Amino acid sequence: MSLKDIAESLKTEKQSFVGDTLNMRIHTIPAIKIIQVKVPIGYIDAINDHIDNVVIPNDKSFADGLVGQINQDKKSAQLDFPFDTEFGKEFQKFMEMCGTTYLQKGHDRQSKAEAFQCWTVHSYAGDYNPFHSHGVHTRAGLSCILYLKVPKSIEENNIDETVLPKLTNATGWCDGYTQLIWGQNTRKELYELKHQEQEYIKPVVGKLIIFPHWLNHQVMPFFGEGERRTLSCNFNVYDTKKETLKYMSDREKKVYETGEESLDAYDG
Ligand SMILES: [Fe+2]
Repeated sequence: MSLKDIAESLKTEKQSFVGDTLNMRIHTIPAIKIIQVKVPIGYIDAINDHIDNVVIPNDKSFADGLVGQINQDKKSAQLDFPFDTEFGKEFQKFMEMCGTTYLQKGHDRQSKAEAFQCWTVHSYAGDYNPFHSHGVHTRAGLSCILYLKVPKSIEENNIDETVLPKLTNATGWCDGYTQLIWGQNTRKELYELKHQEQEYIKPVVGKLIIFPHWLNHQVMPFFGEGERRTLSCNFNVYDTKKETLKYMSDREKKVYETGEESLDAYDG
């Protein structure tokens, strides 16, 4: 077989390393994993009712620990969503189930997620949320955004999320969108065979995204009528002993086993 034939065969060869033949495969190394959940509208309505009837009347501001610039309307607010009500407890369980699924399916990690705080963001025209990440109390942690209400101006922005942002000519392409940012690559680097390190998420009612707590993100302002309502939680992550020992050297394992070093673990 000539070198030309071998090169041609690569185009059709199944990606496999079986046998003593020349084979190839594309090896992809992932940068980040995010879970997207579509929450049924019936449950979204129940969450919105609870917010309208309990969270908003309670009016307990959560803004003192948040960077959101949510102040353009008299109804602009960032409010505590307590887990200690009957509805709150059920909701907490639901979120923890989603968070734990993300850990187990997305990271093959036998760990569990425990949501420890939750708040709502009630944004109106001109409100925005600058670049930030979230804090947790364990080595790993998760955060999430659940989209509960989306103004018409954002909903009717019929853009193609699979293409790169088209921001020239002042299109308003990303108005009201959440931007996830895990690196500094821009269009120039894409031409250099580097990969995207930013992603815009279009708010859609019922869309829930869960991601590692360190993932930087920001929310662009929008300029139409109505409320953009979201809910966020932070989760601590508790690893099994097996997961805790997974990346340790023999010496570290000994230190851990003798109890000289305290690391979070559970027996689940
Ligand atoms: Fe955030």
